[in-house]
Amino acid sequence: MIYPIVVYGDPVLKKKATNFSVEDKEKVAKIIADMFETMYNAHGVGLAAPQVGISKRLFVVDGEPLDEKECKGFKKVFINPVITSEYGKEWEFEEGCLSIPGLREFVSRPETLTILYLDENWNQHTQEFSGMKARIIQHEYDHIEGILFTDKLSGFKKRLIQGKLTKISKGETDANYRVKVYR
Ligand code: NI
Repeated sequence: MIYPIVVYGDPVLKKKATNFSVEDKEKVAKIIADMFETMYNAHGVGLAAPQVGISKRLFVVDGEPLDEKECKGFKKVFINPVITSEYGKEWEFEEGCLSIPGLREFVSRPETLTILYLDENWNQHTQEFSGMKARIIQHEYDHIEGILFTDKLSGFKKRLIQGKLTKISKGETDANYRVKVYR
């Protein structure tokens, strides 16, 4: 099932998401499958549960379409993740977001991170990621913390894009996937 993607202006995107519990296992498996379908349909490389209106700590990624060399095979599920540290040199990359269609801006983030998470089989991992993989994880992780990439821009940049964000919140986008506007 393809979810409509929640766009800028919906309070679910600003809310800190909560953990799933083991009893949710079956329900989560279905949500994961639907989130991958939704992400591929929208040509995204990551999708977090709040973006489909579920305020839970879950995101899926597949970075290969963005960087087929560096992100080869980087298709993953992160359940109840916690970034335990971020380090290395900050670097800039022009990010976009399925919840903010049509807008791209440069965002600075640290090079490397360590993340504790459960995979799709509920096996626990502590893993280090760098470069583009870390970038995708950081962006999606921000979603479950209630943070959007536009929150990381300077006040000047934020004012410049305010009009665009207001339009998006009213559903005035050229997204080629179904969006859900908050009313
Ligand atoms: Ni996003």
